[in-house]
Amino acid sequence: MNIGLLGFGVVGRGVYEITGARADMQVTKVLCLEDISLPDAQAVKNFDEILNDDTIDTVVEAMGGLHPAYEFVRAALEAGKNVVTSNKALVCTFYDELLPLAERKGLKFRSTAAVGGGIGWLSELERARRVQKLTQVGGIMNGTCNYILDNMTRLGLNYDDVLKQAQKLGYAEANPSTDVDGIDTWHKVILSANIAFGISLDKQTVPVAGIRNIQAKDVENFKAHGLVCKLISTAKCLGDTYSAYVQPTLVKEGEPEAAVPMNYNLITFLGDTSERMSFFGQGAGRYPTAYNVVQDLVDVLAGKGFYAPYGTKAAADNSEKLTWYVRGNWTEEAAETWDGAVVTKPVSVTQMHAWLKENPDAFIAAIC
Ligand code: HSE
Repeated sequence: MNIGLLGFGVVGRGVYEITGARADMQVTKVLCLEDISLPDAQAVKNFDEILNDDTIDTVVEAMGGLHPAYEFVRAALEAGKNVVTSNKALVCTFYDELLPLAERKGLKFRSTAAVGGGIGWLSELERARRVQKLTQVGGIMNGTCNYILDNMTRLGLNYDDVLKQAQKLGYAEANPSTDVDGIDTWHKVILSANIAFGISLDKQTVPVAGIRNIQAKDVENFKAHGLVCKLISTAKCLGDTYSAYVQPTLVKEGEPEAAVPMNYNLITFLGDTSERMSFFGQGAGRYPTAYNVVQDLVDVLAGKGFYAPYGTKAAADNSEKLTWYVRGNWTEEAAETWDGAVVTKPVSVTQMHAWLKENPDAFIAAIC
């Protein structure tokens, strides 16, 4: 396998190093805008040098961002090259174009590192759905948010200080709002649901609330009630309908999610045969992420393409009612009052996210 590698940042360098030690694949060209010189590959600054090179059969996209990653991946598929990417925003945003295109061209398109970094989550979903009906996917999918919430909970630190630490450690995306506002998790759960349930979820019907407004006093409230706050994604298949959302969630101390430390991920599916299966590991970082890119390359060599066939469009119905912790201007009747906050009576996910849009300074968390 001859690989054209797009990007030589955190993940790209890792892919170059791991493939360099293998006999079955080699990176022959690297697209990198900086001046670099590599012992085993040619560094190029123009993507066309990869696109028009007929000896390159597979493109690895490790640039991140939507543009020009989308244009390059699309052109690579049009030109008959297999594609492996770690870019969840790309695959989620352009799912309806890239997946049918790869199918039409009979090409291999994989993105295991896009969800869960080093966890083989999407590959496991591919295996799981072969022998059972999956009814739910989701969990802790963003290392930066977990790092912030874990440090606030265990060490009593405040939000801004821990976010700065996460940026220094390289967990956070270039624009950390992608992490803390839940967008990264939103991309990951939509992609997971598409594969698990064989659908193409309408993204506009999946609401997302992040952790930007959490304060140390909220964490004190949670501790006083034996609860731990995590950013949790949920997607359910309810017969012929689906629900999907991302939101801060209060889990009981002692639950597996409550114990997830630092920047780790814990992702779970429920299947009608296997029941609950959870996957824990490093959700980000050079070598964990590059590891799964190389796993995909091995799968491409073995003839494996995308995890599930492209499915029909589906909208999420989030009428499910939950109780919520709300710190903000909640004027409806509450079930309980906590220090400076309330616990609501049951309110639907749709209704609570709509309220949050009108009250953007509030902090909400669903109570499990
Ligand atoms: N910023 C992401 C995270 C990187 O913190 O999980 C991996 O997708």
